[in-house]
Amino acid sequence: MDMHTFCRKLPKIELHAHLNGSLSKSTMLHLKRYFADSGFEDKSNIFFDEFQIGAGDSRNLSDCFQVFSIAHSLTSTPEALEMATQMTLEEFNDDGCCYVELRSTPRDTPYMTKHQYIDTIVKSMQKINARLSIISRFVVSVNRSHHVSEAEAITNLAIEYNKKYPDIVVGLELSGEPTIGRFEDFVPSFVRAKECGLKISLHCGEICNSEEVISMLNFKPDRIGHGTCIHPSHGGTEDTWATLCKIKTPVEICLTSNVNTKSTPKYASHHFKEFYNAEIPVLICTDDKGVFETSLSQEYGICAETFDLDRTKLARLALNACQHIFAEDNVKRKLMTQILNFIDHHC
Ligand code: IMP
Ligand code: ZN
Repeated sequence: MDMHTFCRKLPKIELHAHLNGSLSKSTMLHLKRYFADSGFEDKSNIFFDEFQIGAGDSRNLSDCFQVFSIAHSLTSTPEALEMATQMTLEEFNDDGCCYVELRSTPRDTPYMTKHQYIDTIVKSMQKINARLSIISRFVVSVNRSHHVSEAEAITNLAIEYNKKYPDIVVGLELSGEPTIGRFEDFVPSFVRAKECGLKISLHCGEICNSEEVISMLNFKPDRIGHGTCIHPSHGGTEDTWATLCKIKTPVEICLTSNVNTKSTPKYASHHFKEFYNAEIPVLICTDDKGVFETSLSQEYGICAETFDLDRTKLARLALNACQHIFAEDNVKRKLMTQILNFIDHHC
């Protein structure tokens, strides 16, 4: 079996995927057709070249946040959102993922409320979990560029839906344009969510802001996203690095996302290396597979090639990721058995 096939067949765990950034070209075309056939406003001026951010794209990290409005215009009705969720989960399933936590920011649109937004994703996931072998869970997103009152409303919904559907809604996460908003303003919402039993993930250190990194790590989230500017050689400080090394918060690593947004100059200089060597739990993820035209198997392949990991080491990354999923322990055990079985046969 060649490395490409190995990476596809390896049962993988996706823990950092934004729904609207994960829409593939074929899903977007499908949604465009749905809007055209249903008599909604014309979506024909949607350009994929603008949505996708490849290697060497001239846009900076802030510019990258503009592209999500393209996807948002295609997920504005409950029907479209259901199609988007199901097609995206099917693609993760086809790529050999055995477990996916999809995250998304509930929004009010002209055709649905935030309430309906969450409800639609929950129902779509239930259908996928009944139909396919992939196991999916929902992590509700708070956008740091929105007002605190919006974060509070979304937190309330996350808590309500976690009570109603504990086997689907498992966490709350903070994302959005990192130069806007302050983590400290959102702390009361995240404290409340934590107290209600929701797991927490925070986009952390996407830009140099050591004070915020320290307060995020001290909050003791279950996981952080990216962690780009934490190590001193990547824009962090001795203090941010020492704190992470001490508490060993698991880090969702998104190689292509970081390279294509130029947060990291090239794969070879990605902070994965320092984190891996320091035995900080590293979780290989896609972030926005549609925007960055990637897949989880491709990210595993890039990781193996760049950091010279053999098949056993690569498979161990997937196995170790099971420890940090937000779903219940019986799911953890099931996934570990599945991956261990694969390792027994193919490594
Ligand atoms: P949605 O939450 O399903 O609408 O997915 C798109 C949203 O995810 C964007 O509007 C951002 O708020 C967030 N997002 C996607 N990628 C990133 C990232 O790399 N950093 C921070 N936020 C992100
Ligand atoms: Zn992200």
